[in-house]
Amino acid sequence: MAIRTILRYPDKRLRVKAETVTKFDDALKTLVDDMAETMYAAPGVGLAAPQIGVPLRLFVIDIAGEDEPSELKVFINPEFVSKEGELAWEEGCLSFPGIHEEIERAERVVVKAQDVNGKPFTLEATELLSIAVQHEFDHLDGTLMIDRVSLLKKRFIDREMRRAQGSHARA
Ligand code: NI
Repeated sequence: MAIRTILRYPDKRLRVKAETVTKFDDALKTLVDDMAETMYAAPGVGLAAPQIGVPLRLFVIDIAGEDEPSELKVFINPEFVSKEGELAWEEGCLSFPGIHEEIERAERVVVKAQDVNGKPFTLEATELLSIAVQHEFDHLDGTLMIDRVSLLKKRFIDREMRRAQGSHARA
């Protein structure tokens, strides 16, 4: 297992539309292990493959709290079966460190996906899990949290992120 580098906005690789996973092999298992390790190390509640520069349709989520046992969920080739209601939640993203914005999404989703062995499953999600699934799914289409806020906030986030990258490059 290895911790991979998480790409930060405005890296263009975050904008790629990811491809369907077709091979459920050892390389995929290693990728999933690396993504989980990278997410836990960050730490974060979710990580999509495009965030580490791998343009494939998969993400990992673990919404367990600090005092709870970890509960890793792996979603490969996910699709929404249904979305209902509305819920505003203050979101963050490992590709936007330090940025938190309220975003409105569906309250309840049903998602179908495959596990690391290719076995299909269906999951109903509410609250934080619902938000996390919708947030990570966006990454597979190159959609980022900055695309879901007002124009004013968009400009603010863009400026903050570019400033942070600049100071990072000089350090
Ligand atoms: Ni994100």
